[in-house]
Amino acid sequence: MKNIAALLLLCCTISAQAAPFAEGDPQAGKKLFDQYDCNSCHRDKVGGDGNAIFTRPDRKVNSPQKMLERMTMCSGALGKKLTQQEQQHLGAYLNQSYYKFK
Ligand code: HEC
Repeated sequence: MKNIAALLLLCCTISAQAAPFAEGDPQAGKKLFDQYDCNSCHRDKVGGDGNAIFTRPDRKVNSPQKMLERMTMCSGALGKKLTQQEQQHLGAYLNQSYYKFK
């Protein structure tokens, strides 16, 4: 049943030409974000919990494409290669919480 729902969701999001990171789940993204301790470097750069890097006035990421490029660089620095699904989850999380790309 769950699979059918997921399949339906996938079909609809694709045919509707979907919001960015429509195949990601923000909650799964948040989990990955914590698991990979993504803010470990961001904290050093902007202080606090590190999330301010996503809302700084001169932030670098200004499109979903840039987000993907940035995630690739950042995870590379961690010595990790994110799967496409992980990128979608992380993108969905960051987009929902901070970037709000449509
Ligand atoms: C090894 C250190 C490091 C790690 C770990 C890291 N990042 Fe980053 N990240 C950076 C640095 C440094 C910048 C700022 C780059 C700049 O200012 O040009 C950045 C910037 C970003 C930005 C862009 C912020 C903006 O300006 O809009 C995003 C998005 C991002 N990181 C996502 C992630 C994600 C997702 C992870 C975990 C998978 C992660 N980062 C892990 C170092 C890191």
